[in-house]
Amino acid sequence: MERRTLLLCGLLALTGCASSTGSTRKPGVGSARAGDRIAGLADVPDGSGALVPVGADGQLLLVRSGSSVRAFNPACPHQGTIVNPPTAGVITCPTHRSTFDPSTGAVRSGPAEKGLAEVPVRVTGQDVVLA
Ligand code: FES
Repeated sequence: MERRTLLLCGLLALTGCASSTGSTRKPGVGSARAGDRIAGLADVPDGSGALVPVGADGQLLLVRSGSSVRAFNPACPHQGTIVNPPTAGVITCPTHRSTFDPSTGAVRSGPAEKGLAEVPVRVTGQDVVLA
């Protein structure tokens, strides 16, 4: 391997391919398809949420209020850090502390300028599935 290639690989490793959760999964639905079960309703704490694996390679942030579940791509719109599930009514990015509304994904405070991207899901019985 050329020295130049080695330097590039090292730089990529240092600049954040890994998430704050240590997961190698990519934010989003990955290879999952509409209709795929992504979690049980019981896997998502009511009034809070959870990061869940999706398909073979994706991950989503699920937020639950009673029997209603919304899903968001957990990549912070600022620089891509995986955000934390909501606590005390707010989703927070651990890197630069942007905050987001857990019911809509809208940004509450920056530096992020955009909200979290919502992913359509539905609750079917006791399962959360991609819509
Ligand atoms: S990466 Fe989330 S606020 Fe900067």
